[in-house]
Amino acid sequence: MLSLKGSIGVMDSGIGGLTVAKEIQRLLPHEDILYFGDSANCPYGNKTAQEITELSRNMLRYLGNRGVKVVAIACNTISTLVDVLSEDFDFEILGIIAPSAAYVARSGIKRVGLIATEFTIQTGNYDKLIHALDPQVQVTGKGSPLLAGLVDRGDFSQQDINTEIRTQIDTILDRDPQIKHVILGCTHYPIVEQNFKNCYPDLSFINPALEQANAVRGFLQENGALAEHGQGGFTICTSGDPQVYVEVAKRIGMKDPTALEQVSL
Ligand code: DGL
Repeated sequence: MLSLKGSIGVMDSGIGGLTVAKEIQRLLPHEDILYFGDSANCPYGNKTAQEITELSRNMLRYLGNRGVKVVAIACNTISTLVDVLSEDFDFEILGIIAPSAAYVARSGIKRVGLIATEFTIQTGNYDKLIHALDPQVQVTGKGSPLLAGLVDRGDFSQQDINTEIRTQIDTILDRDPQIKHVILGCTHYPIVEQNFKNCYPDLSFINPALEQANAVRGFLQENGALAEHGQGGFTICTSGDPQVYVEVAKRIGMKDPTALEQVSL
């Protein structure tokens, strides 16, 4: 039976999932959020499926032991493995790709670019889930081996970030020059959304965070598990440097964390 008590768990390989936590905080201000970012092992996107599964199970076990009623996998890379991961836990685990694919299909966009980690691109998960809803959408994806790791350092002035954005988006546009919309298919990327916009002012970038936050709200509503009172605590746990998380949360306009914990799994 599903456990429906506790916080909303949000997890990522690092700081990227804060972009999802921000939307959850905005939509569900009374909920407690328990965030885990595994910066000590970031980036996940260049690892094998087995390594990602093991690291993700460790995070899920940790969140489960702390008491969560649902976990949002605020990481596209880990979300490609959501079915396998869900088998071992007695709380609901919601990935980010399905709500994002549903958004693309609903929006009527027929040609879409996708920038994500190499792992996410190789799984073909976005294509599969979009095509299940609208087989006519043409998805042009390109993996970035570097961008998540560069962003996770927390230094957003790096010229390397813009160089990597240009390298990968230029490739997408070379393959399909008619593309006007590009999915930011890694939760680290919306943190530097302004860099994307500055490099490509004529493109529109899709940030899947809001769709996933809506999916979390829908799940809690359907199960009568929404918190209606409470201050909305926000605990950040990380295997990396908690101070980077505080700064990024501020940069993206989130409420300050109520607790910070450095954890090794
Ligand atoms: N935020 C993760 C994602 O959405 C980053 C992946 C990584 O650690 O490489 O895919």
